[in-house]
Amino acid sequence: MKTYDYLVIGSGLAGLVFALEASSQGKVAIVTKKKMHNCNTDYAQGGIAAVVDQQDSFDNHVRDTFIAGGELGKVEVIEQIVKEAPDRLQYLIDLGTRFTMENDQLDRRLENLSLTREGGHSRKRVAYAADSTGHEIMTALIAACRKNDNIDIFENHLAVDLITQHHISQARHFIPRITCWGAYIMNTETAEIEIYRSRKTMLATGGGGQVYSYNTNPDIATGDGYAMAYLAGARMVNMEFVQFHPTAFYDSENKPFLVSEAVRGEGAILRLQNGATFMEKYHELECLAPRDIVSRAIDFELKKSGDKFLYLDATHIPKEKLMTHFPYIYKKCLSRGVDITSEPIPIVPAAHYFCGGIATTIDGLTAIRNLFAAGEVSCTGLHGANRLASNSLLEALVIAWRAAHHPSMMEEVEFPEILPWQASNTFNENEWVIISHNRQILNTIMQGYVGITRSRRLLKYAYSRVSNIYEEINNFYQHNSVNKEVIETRNIAIVALLIIRSALMRKESRGAHYVNDYPQRDDIKYLKDTII
Ligand code: FAD
Ligand code: SIN
Repeated sequence: MKTYDYLVIGSGLAGLVFALEASSQGKVAIVTKKKMHNCNTDYAQGGIAAVVDQQDSFDNHVRDTFIAGGELGKVEVIEQIVKEAPDRLQYLIDLGTRFTMENDQLDRRLENLSLTREGGHSRKRVAYAADSTGHEIMTALIAACRKNDNIDIFENHLAVDLITQHHISQARHFIPRITCWGAYIMNTETAEIEIYRSRKTMLATGGGGQVYSYNTNPDIATGDGYAMAYLAGARMVNMEFVQFHPTAFYDSENKPFLVSEAVRGEGAILRLQNGATFMEKYHELECLAPRDIVSRAIDFELKKSGDKFLYLDATHIPKEKLMTHFPYIYKKCLSRGVDITSEPIPIVPAAHYFCGGIATTIDGLTAIRNLFAAGEVSCTGLHGANRLASNSLLEALVIAWRAAHHPSMMEEVEFPEILPWQASNTFNENEWVIISHNRQILNTIMQGYVGITRSRRLLKYAYSRVSNIYEEINNFYQHNSVNKEVIETRNIAIVALLIIRSALMRKESRGAHYVNDYPQRDDIKYLKDTII
């Protein structure tokens, strides 16, 4: 058993900011599934939204966020996060993040930042580091964590379960609220599971793009945090709002990758295969409409024509600009045979971001005592039904920082006696070979029936099939020793069920949830969160 003041699960932006800030108050352990940089944050391209331009205003950013979110976001939360954005951006700069500066200036003050624009933003408001913003942020944060003596880092360590009342030998006295005392952590190199005991636990496990077969996320994004928190009794909110990014590179044989919305922000245009534009039919902001609208428009046009992809055309943008602002995208497309300076890019929408998650306060507090959550795994109320571009890094940064400075961080905790992990010695390889196929089936069901456009009939069908698959996997989980693949597949099934159940509860269309049976918004009945 290991004991720390603070246990941080996940090494993305949320986890590392929390770890750095908490380290001045106690000893911190960061556990992360693979290497430190394997996370969604590292993939972030477009940038991070903040009001730093004199012509912009907090009110504008609040309004854009609220409107993009289908007016479901919580205004007081949006206002607070937007107001804290400039200070937290300066914090990242002070840690060594090299954002792109206007005219390559060396003076790294906010007013010198170069800004770009993305969908749903009424003006240029997005700070960026070429098209590898996330990687640049991660480089600075990882360096700061590695040289901090109060932080221990455990790579290739997978959180299996949160430790709560279920895992203590006997309650010495009645504990009225679900309480967390750390987590069971598996060293994926040895498959050993150990207790990591902590006064406070920060769940910063990111999203669950891998629930869908076509997604922009890295392979770590299997929704483990949602599953662990749900099983522990947390409150899950708005899980139906899965955001599809409009422009993932289409490749029938290889994994898709993101082509940033910032490419449209710099003037690229969406076209049908015959070269015609179409976004003017769907929204006044055309190619820079909020993401849910653009993805749905592409989905509609694809279904109408029967084509497998549409085009993003950046050929009219000066070559030098494309190559300096988008060097990663340029090289990546070239490696798949497309020169973006002279050819249009084949694109399709792909699952990208979970707007819902574990309900938290603006300080990252969850309904479970001693458990914080921040970043994509959480739901603060910032995004509502659809996230405004580049507001995710912002939310992770602001909330993780606030959580680490919350007065409850100093609370002492009396640990109960925690039971060791109950390991089974058997692993039925033959049975697992059959059950492991379920992961692909789950992906296909979610992509086909719980995607951009939904219907209640298909949602119910998906629910019944996913429930059966979950039973099979869970049965295997209960009777065999567990490994990373078993845990992830079970988690994917749990998250899939949470999404479908939430989608069935919302009998209207709003933001990223569009259901054919109820194509309109219903503010009288559904201007509220979906809660499980
Ligand atoms: P992550 O950065 O995903 O970190 C999660 C961490 O948890 C990882 O280290 C992972 O290994 C670990 N983990 C997960 N499960 C376990 C477990 N069971 N045990 C131990 N560790 C675990 N947002 C923006 O605002 N701007 C952008 O430009 C932008 N671009 C994007 C581009 C792409 C391609 C993608 C995929 C997303 C983009 N996003 C962007 C969204 C944004 O990157 C993420 O929402 C954000 O980085 C999430 O940060 P996080 O710290 O919550 O999670
Ligand atoms: C992008 O660069 O298009 C992604 C931005 C985001 O997800 O906010």
